[in-house]
Amino acid sequence: MNIVETSTLKIRKAEESKIGSVDFDNIIFGEIFTDHMFTCKYKDGQWQQSEIVPYGPIMMDPSAKVFHYGQAVFEGMKAYKDEKDSIWLFRPEDNQKRLNISSERLAMPSFPEDKFFEGLEALLKMDKEWIKKGEGNSLYIRPFVIASQSGVSASPASEYTFMIICSPAQSYFSGKKVDIKVLFAEKYSRSADGGVGFAKCAGNYAGQFYPTKLANDAGYHQVVWTDSNTHEYLEEAGVMNVFFRVNDTLLTAPTSDRILDGITRKSVIKLAEDKGMDLEIRPVSVKEIVEAAKNGSLKEMFGVGTAAVVSPIAIFGYKGVDYTLPKIEDTYADYFKNMIEGIQANKKEDKFGWMRQVK
Ligand code: COI
Repeated sequence: MNIVETSTLKIRKAEESKIGSVDFDNIIFGEIFTDHMFTCKYKDGQWQQSEIVPYGPIMMDPSAKVFHYGQAVFEGMKAYKDEKDSIWLFRPEDNQKRLNISSERLAMPSFPEDKFFEGLEALLKMDKEWIKKGEGNSLYIRPFVIASQSGVSASPASEYTFMIICSPAQSYFSGKKVDIKVLFAEKYSRSADGGVGFAKCAGNYAGQFYPTKLANDAGYHQVVWTDSNTHEYLEEAGVMNVFFRVNDTLLTAPTSDRILDGITRKSVIKLAEDKGMDLEIRPVSVKEIVEAAKNGSLKEMFGVGTAAVVSPIAIFGYKGVDYTLPKIEDTYADYFKNMIEGIQANKKEDKFGWMRQVK
């Protein structure tokens, strides 16, 4: 067996690659994983030696606290390959920081930046054949931390496992030309003041599944969550932040302890400012968006996120009525998508220093 070890990282290579069995032209988001995974355990108050091992199941005691109390946080980031086969990450420092912000909120230990990048970069170099070039192709990276200590007492664990797994990705919404339909939430809530809405923690997603299933059954892809107090203001869509274009003004909700501080969201805001667009970051009411849809001034709605990139929304539903967005040329959504994907593919100037090369 092929083992390489340094004082901080131990690598055990897979004996055979699975890559030959993958149909890269028909990738469904998050279903296939690369040959290796990164793992590091926390115990006795510190992170231990990191390891890269062949991808596969992990053993955990059934009483591990993650199964009972949901101490689990994660990140979503992507690696890209440019025309010269160089590997790039998009604003990865922001993901690394946000992971620790999420961990802190769930009383979990932070994972050191140097160990994060040492492991991530070594993993990407080992699995570099899995990163495909070309429009829309990337490797989705899922770092996560779980409470792996056994015992069902309801208190923060003293042992954790940090892992990184990677999955080749194309568009999140399968079927590239799908018309995305969203439903504005009227009853259920994703997050509340003082809660964990800003954290990328597993429970935030679990809590959305039931209302999202109801929405799916009614023909919608996603729910756009509204504020839990009044359901009058539009917040985020669970796997993406949301932007609205009313006439030529771009609107999006400010982040708060209920809304994820999305990295694609921040990037869109920066690009909009740079382009001199009329941008308002303020609470966006359901009422104004419904009125704008009725009077024709609502030109666009789109979701943004690492997995979703920039996904135009075709229809929104509210109080039993579906509102269809107009089909227009030269959309803001296309502009942001082209800019962001162009920067990520190393084809457009990285004016803001967002890209980090994996060397
Ligand atoms: C991401 O865009 O990284 C996400 O977290 C979406 C994921 C929950 C599918």
